[in-house]
This record gives sequence, structure tokens and C-alpha cells, in this order.
Amino acid sequence: MFDEEKINTLIAEMTLDEKLNMIHGNALFATGGVKRLGILPLVTSDGPMGVRLEFEANRWMPVGNSDDYITYLPCNSALAATWNRKLAFENGSVLGEEARGRGKDVILAPGINIKRTPLCGRNFEYFSEDPYLTKEMAVPFIKGVQEWDVAACVKHFAVNNQETQRLSVDVCVEEDVLREIYLPPFYAAVKEGGAYTIMGAYNQLYGKHCCHSDYLLGKILREEWEYDGVVISDWGGVHDTEQAANTSLDIEMSVYDNFDEYYMANPLKEKIACGEIDESVVDQKIARILKLMNRLNMLDGERKAGSYNTPEHRMQALLAARESVVLLKNEEKRLPLCKEKLGRVLVVGENANLQHAFGGGSSELKALYEITPLMGIKTHLGGNTKVMYAPGYCKDIGMNAPLDEEYPDVAANWQETSLNAETTENEREIQESQEVLQARKKLREEAIALAKTCDTVIYVGGLNHDYDTEGKDRSDMKLPYEQDILIQELLTVCPDMIVVMMAGSQVEMHSWIDKAKAVVWTWYAGMEGGNALADVLFGEINPSGKMPDTMYRTHADCSAHAIGEFPGGDTVHYTEGKYVGYRYLERYDIEPLFPFGHGLSYTHFSYQNLQLDLKANRIVCTIKNDGDIDGAEIVQVYCKNTQSADEDVKVLVGFEKVFLKAGQAKEVRIFVERMQRDDTILVGASIKDIRLCQTVC
Ligand code: GLC
Repeated sequence: MFDEEKINTLIAEMTLDEKLNMIHGNALFATGGVKRLGILPLVTSDGPMGVRLEFEANRWMPVGNSDDYITYLPCNSALAATWNRKLAFENGSVLGEEARGRGKDVILAPGINIKRTPLCGRNFEYFSEDPYLTKEMAVPFIKGVQEWDVAACVKHFAVNNQETQRLSVDVCVEEDVLREIYLPPFYAAVKEGGAYTIMGAYNQLYGKHCCHSDYLLGKILREEWEYDGVVISDWGGVHDTEQAANTSLDIEMSVYDNFDEYYMANPLKEKIACGEIDESVVDQKIARILKLMNRLNMLDGERKAGSYNTPEHRMQALLAARESVVLLKNEEKRLPLCKEKLGRVLVVGENANLQHAFGGGSSELKALYEITPLMGIKTHLGGNTKVMYAPGYCKDIGMNAPLDEEYPDVAANWQETSLNAETTENEREIQESQEVLQARKKLREEAIALAKTCDTVIYVGGLNHDYDTEGKDRSDMKLPYEQDILIQELLTVCPDMIVVMMAGSQVEMHSWIDKAKAVVWTWYAGMEGGNALADVLFGEINPSGKMPDTMYRTHADCSAHAIGEFPGGDTVHYTEGKYVGYRYLERYDIEPLFPFGHGLSYTHFSYQNLQLDLKANRIVCTIKNDGDIDGAEIVQVYCKNTQSADEDVKVLVGFEKVFLKAGQAKEVRIFVERMQRDDTILVGASIKDIRLCQTVC
């Protein structure tokens, strides 16, 4: 390992050109090294669910070889739905090992922005609406990545909570709200996770671009948090040479190939040459970059060898996907399905048959494979049962023949022009032509006709990466493609239909939810997602997932829309303050469709003997599996301060996932983030399903 002195000696030997070459991209995903001094280029790659495909060095063109298929992990929202810190570490470790295996030094993940609105196109890349759950899942993930001599790059710092006008929108948020809601996951990433790098966000905060905001990168990050890691701009997030040089941004990346024209390239060289900027500011950046390389054993260390596409990694993807499935509703114990009593099976819905890996923006992946729900169901039934399929709806009806979405080796990547057009307000759905509506109706009629001839119908719908995507927000939570009509019509002919929603953020379900007996929520759950869903539907796995976000009835029930602004204009005002997510519904007593932390099981659990240990900041209680099958319960601990103006608002301060065999009882000890006199501690299976309660005296 290089010590400080050795690093300073190295810097002293470097020319200005060599230094500048290290602080801006000299390829789309890499900065320059200094060969004569043994300094390697720093190589980065997206993304949160797997290592992105290989692009040519200087243009958004896939290399197109067969050696960049990877393990496609569940998205961060899915991981958050497991509430399993150990799984978060293991997923991070898979991502880190695969990044090393692909020769990357920095993986641009995880995304840890708070989900301020259900409409943000990138919610699937983030964990939760709640800062505590976000940080509790992000910290182990970061540690898992970094055990492989790979740097995590937590993003996007900070308040990047929408895609509309993402390149320029100026966020106006009270500082106390910033510190209570939006910064804590980044603080934990730095202080607890030891994140080696952070990515500056595109947007502005208080009138300054985050990538060169002295408040964010100076006052908060370097002074208050004493962060000595590397700050990398988002790709095209830098807009001013002087601000970038004089703040503690270390590396400028962008989507263009005019690398020498980047703000921290020749323009900075000129300002140093004429004495406007002192070369010492560059030395500080180089020192942090060399310290990062030292941490990654890139200078004189022995780096761990990684690997990718291993059976162990694929098993990890399956385990995480299984625990991410959320059973929202299960009347009359409709689930699990009994394989021997299915009769003729019909699977309806394009999401049963669609592969999602290669979508969503920079988190797009060239997955080695992706098991769809239809494939998972069929392989589980093994040919003894006839399984039919009807799309019921189709996302590309009436569009030009979709590009060969397999892995286009001709269409330049969308990102090449991603900085040119600022997304205006939410893109409204294009007015659908009569022929499209007719074609949709025909698909519905075909599905209904088939459903009438079948004994078991499973619907798999929801969203896809046309909606859950970088660069765009939705205009509402409505299901696209007239799925509501389809689901209602199917439930009329088949009241026992199982409804599976697959999406990266909340959708409206209130028009049919009361008619459906069994509703399952799943995510872009990775390459094994279809197997995981089938495991749950057929009872091989007892579902344990819980919603990491409030399932609103409509987006109007979300504070960003009810009190705050969304998406705002050039400026967006977070006037809802700290009442984000469930905090708002708690404060104003608004009923969600499904509450934060909700998720059912095929068994049921009872809670007894709550004891508060104020000194140890811990609660203890006994959880019992009262059913006849093994299962896992996520015991949640909430706290409200009866003396505060917000006495009705309880906040998540702890949780533990406990696995219990049928009939087994276990004492569970849970560390809580906060517990003080006059607080009321509430323990339960969701924020609304409180089982135990005690005031701290
Ligand atoms: C994108 C995204 C960021 C990604 C980067 C590199 O625009 O905002 O999350 O890591 O650019 O692709």
C-alpha cells in the first residue's frame, strides 16, 4: 500500500498534462493513466443490477462480443423489499466480483436517492421512500461490492428525485429536511459503508449544479463528513471549469468524445497557465484519486481476481428474487396453487413473456439469460399441465417494428444524445389512434375467450422499461395499455384469477383490487425472476417480501403532488418538507392502498413480550410462527415522540428479518436508531399492522 508520502512523491513527478488526464474522461467510461509512473487508467461501469455491456472506448457503440454477458441481479427496489441486510451484502458482493471479473475498478452503484414520488422513472434503481431502510440496505451492499477491490459509486448526490429536467432542475428544499430525509443515506454510505466514490447528480441544489456545489461537496461532504473519497460527476454533470476546479469534484465524465474539451481538460489547463487557477487544486484531486487506487490495490497491491456468470452468482440472484416477492392480498388462501389441481392453465399479460434486462437506461444489461414468469411457470409444471399464453396487451402495438432490442449492434446507444434534449414536463402518453385501440381490444377479446376455457388463470402485467426508465417520469400511476379494462374483464370471467403486478414503482390498482382474491407484487427481479415468482405461486417458497414504499391509491395521495411540487419547472420546491412517503399519510391520516412495510405470508406470526432496553438502544420481543409452514417475518420497529408536534407520525427506526419453522418461537433483539424518554415504540408487521406498543419511561 502507498502511504501519503509515496503518493505525494508520485504527484511531484507528474506533469500537468498527466494530472489533467486523470481528472476527466479520456474514454466514455475511463480516465487516463500515467504509464511511465505505473498508474493505470481508472475504469468504470454501470450499473446497480449488473455490469453493463462493453462499449467501444470512445463511442456509444456496443463492442458486440460474446464475453460481456453477465449475472442480472434484482433491482435495488426488489432488494429493499427483502429487508434482508445479509442479502444486500451478498448481492453487492456478486456485483463487485463481476465488476472485477470484467476488469472494472468502479461500479456506478447503488442508486440511493429517496423516492419522493411514485412517478420518478428511476425509482426501480433506488431502494425506498424511507431514509432508514435505504441506508440499512445500501451500507451492506456497498461493503459487499468493495470487498472485491472495486469501488462502489453511490449516486446521485444529491436530491436527484425526478427525471423531468434532470440535467438542470434546481431543487429548493429546507436544509433541515435535506439533512433529515435526503442526505442520511449518503452520510451512512460514507460513514458506515465506507463508499470509496460518490457520483455528483445532474440537477442543481440551491442554484448550483451538484457536481460543483461548494455547499454539497465542500461544506457537507469534505468538512462535516470528512470524506476523503473520490467524487465523480454524472455523465455531463459539469458545467463550469472554475467551479469544478475549485470544488472537490475529482473526476469529470461525460457522454461526448471531445475529451480534451471537457471543462476539467484544456479549459482548465488554460486557466492554470494564465494563473486564474492554481495547480494545487489539481494536486488535491490527484491525491484523492491515487488514494482510491491505493484502496483498490491498483498501485502496488495484489488485486483480487473476480469472475462473472458463475452458478453461485445465479443462485444468489434467485435467492434475492425469491425474498423480494411481496404477497399483497391472499383471500380464501387462494395461493399457493396446488400443481395437481390446476386443470388447464392460462397465463395472460405481456409481462409474463417480456424480458426486461436490456432496458431502463444506464442500468441496461446484457444478461446471460432472463427467466420470464411464463418460462418459470412452465418449467415448474414440467409439461404435465397444459399452459397456454395470451398477451392480452402489447406495449408496441401500432409502433414501428421495434428495433432489434436483443442487443442492438447497429443502433447507437440512447445515451449518446442524452444531454441534448432536456425532458420537458412528463411526457404525456401519445394519443392512441383508433387502430391501436382496436388492436388492443382484439387482444383483450382473445384473452377473455381463452380464459373462459381454462381452470386456472394467472395475469402478469404492470409496467416495463418504457415507463420505468432513466430520463423520463410518468404522468400518473395508471396502468398503461388499458390493462385495467383487461384485468376487470378477466376477473369477471375468472374471479379466482391470480394477479401479478411487475413494476419498478407503484401503479394504480384500486379499480379492480377488491375483485381480486390474490395479488402478488414483483419487480425487475433479475435473470431468475420468473423462477422466483413460480416458486412463490406454487408454494415452494413462502413469500416474505414487504413493500419498501407506500402503495398509494393514486399519486395524488403522495405529498410531492399534494403539498409539494412535481415536477416543478426550472425550480422544484419540496414544500412537503419531511412529510415524504408514509410520513405524509401518517401526518394527515390518509389511507394507502397498501401501507409501507406491508407483505403477507402463507403462514402467520404472533408478537409477544416487548421489552425496551433504553441503555442498549434496543428492543426485545418474541415472534412465533403460528402456522404449519416455515416462513420469515420482517419485524418492524417504529417510533413516535408523543411530546412532538408530530406525535401522530411514527418513523421506522429498526427492523429484523427472522426465519421461523412452523410452530417455532424466537426472541428477537433489534437495535433501534432512536429511542428516548417519552418516545412510543411500536412493533409490527407493517406501519399499519402494529402488534406491540410501549412508551419509553
Ligand atoms: C447516466 C446516469 C448515471 C450513470 C451514468 C453513466 O446518465 O445518470 O446513473 O451511471 O450516466 O452511464
